[in-house]
Amino acid sequence: MDRDYGGPVAGIGGWWERHVVPRLVENALGSGDVRRERAAVCEGLSGRVLEVGFGSGLNLSHLPAGVTSLDAVEPSDLGWSMSAPRRDAARLPVARVGLDGQHLDVEDASYDAVLCTFSLCTIPDAALAAREMARAVRPGGTVHVLEHGASPDPRVRRWQARLDPVERAVAGGCHLTRDPVALVRAAGLEVGPVTQRYLPGPAVSRPWTYGYRFVARRP
Ligand SMILES: C[S@@+](CC[C@H](N)C(=O)[O-])C[C@H]1O[C@@H](n2cnc3c(N)ncnc32)[C@H](O)[C@@H]1O
Repeated sequence: MDRDYGGPVAGIGGWWERHVVPRLVENALGSGDVRRERAAVCEGLSGRVLEVGFGSGLNLSHLPAGVTSLDAVEPSDLGWSMSAPRRDAARLPVARVGLDGQHLDVEDASYDAVLCTFSLCTIPDAALAAREMARAVRPGGTVHVLEHGASPDPRVRRWQARLDPVERAVAGGCHLTRDPVALVRAAGLEVGPVTQRYLPGPAVSRPWTYGYRFVARRP
């Protein structure tokens, strides 16, 4: 199913966000260490999976064989069209089922797992989106999260606070200061072990590179 969606979604506003940001994301988050993090966060996914903030489909090639279908929620038409070659090459059905992770048009408990990478930083009301993920996954199902976010280092955190308004303006509403673990826990999910660290890179990149990777379970 590939419905024709129309109308604006908060976060996908002007020309820059519609035509440039998806390409920037693909370049910044499409290679090297980030690819390895994507592979790691996809481990253990199986059955019917919902991906919130699908982007250009950079996780598709990392989905394990046990995943039977992927439903994508993605407001960016450019991101969705950029994903076409990856969707064509995928061995499983991929459908765009919505535009907005804050308001999922899906049944309660209808997925075995949810995947969300680098999108809780961007979705305007990330707490609401996390609650929607918790609603969509079945009891015992898992929510797999890979994000960048607030650093535990006070100095880096101060820079993140200073840079946050610039980041939001140039990177499609992306925040540097969010805590994905707290967001997911507040949604009622049980957060498993968290891998959190700076991805390799120069010290100056640290406001952007503090990463969190974890799997949370719906009780
Ligand atoms: C930094 S990009 C990451 C894309 C992709 N998840 C990845 O890992 O490459 C953030 C994504 O969140 C999407 N997004 C923005 N607002 C959203 C919303 N309200 N609901 C769902 N996704 C949203 C953007 O369109 C974009 O694809």
